[in-house]
Amino acid sequence: MQGLHMFFAIFWFGGTLFANFVVGPAAARSLPASQADFGAQIGIQADRVIRPVATLAIILGFLRGTVWGPIHSAGDVFNSSYGRWWFIALLLAIATFSWAELRTAPAARAIATVPDAERPAQIQRTIRDAMVELVGFAGILSMMVLMRFGI
Ligand code: HEM
Repeated sequence: MQGLHMFFAIFWFGGTLFANFVVGPAAARSLPASQADFGAQIGIQADRVIRPVATLAIILGFLRGTVWGPIHSAGDVFNSSYGRWWFIALLLAIATFSWAELRTAPAARAIATVPDAERPAQIQRTIRDAMVELVGFAGILSMMVLMRFGI
């Protein structure tokens, strides 16, 4: 369970890092005509792949803490440090996922539809929105370490 959780979680996190530091800057340097098609295809593919991967990472993290972990009641969540870190990780993951769905993905989709002249600014806006997700991941990873070491 932990291995599966880690696989999907690092896929989600790594995918976001790759989008921020490789795909985004490469798209920004492409010709405006290809930026539209590239942006549209990246958006379609990210919805197909990253959405289910992120959902599985969260569900498996939930199960790793409960069915396959020490949390079996609301008391276990709020009366132990493990439960509190787990709950904060859950909230941060839902917030990060929601941000990606409600901010980053619509910004990425708009790359294909804005006029050519506005496209570079739209790409920068998308990268900026995606960078915000990294703050969420930093918080979530901190929770994983705190749970692991029983702090
Ligand atoms: C991008 C998001 C996430 C990443 C990258 C991630 C990564 C990891 C990693 C690397 C571990 C192994 C830690 C170790 O053994 O040293 C782990 C464990 C774990 N994760 Fe996550 N995780 C994420 C999201 C979540 C969420 C949202 C939850 C809860 C809903 C969660 C719950 C857990 C639990 C309960 C463990 C086992 C901790 C233990 O008992 O040692 N994870 N995660």
